[in-house]
Amino acid sequence: MRIAVFPGSFNPWHDGHEDVLKKALKAFDKVIVARGRNPDKTKANPPRPNIVWLGNFEFQEFDGLLKDFVVKVGACAVIKGLRNENDFRYELEQQYWNEDLGLQIPTVYVITDRNLVHMSSSALRMLEKLKK
Ligand code: PNS
Repeated sequence: MRIAVFPGSFNPWHDGHEDVLKKALKAFDKVIVARGRNPDKTKANPPRPNIVWLGNFEFQEFDGLLKDFVVKVGACAVIKGLRNENDFRYELEQQYWNEDLGLQIPTVYVITDRNLVHMSSSALRMLEKLKK
């Protein structure tokens, strides 16, 4: 079974993530949506993603390095979503770090739907605060 890991903070999960997950599910037998604990981000317990059923996926949380998590779950690829060139620059740096740390599997980049390029977790968090 070809398993891919789709890692992120997902705080919160949004339509852009859902779009990437849908596309990844067309290419892999199973996708693990994996929330990594980011020690720099303050909110300790972001909400569990409320993902509608899209196919064979599961949600997991992990501590530590992504390269260790992918080995643990037997993944053959990492999935990352790209909205624009800023994401690309950020993800390229992440990829080089992951490779330096020993990631042995490819990272597959999925372009987000053009109608969702403005969607971001940080914008949603800001809106949530302003509505209060
Ligand atoms: O949505 P984000 O905040 O870009 O997701 C970040 C995440 C969880 C993918 C990233 O922080 C991560 O991979 N964390 C695990 C730690 C790790 O392996 N870091 C290596 C690159 S420095």
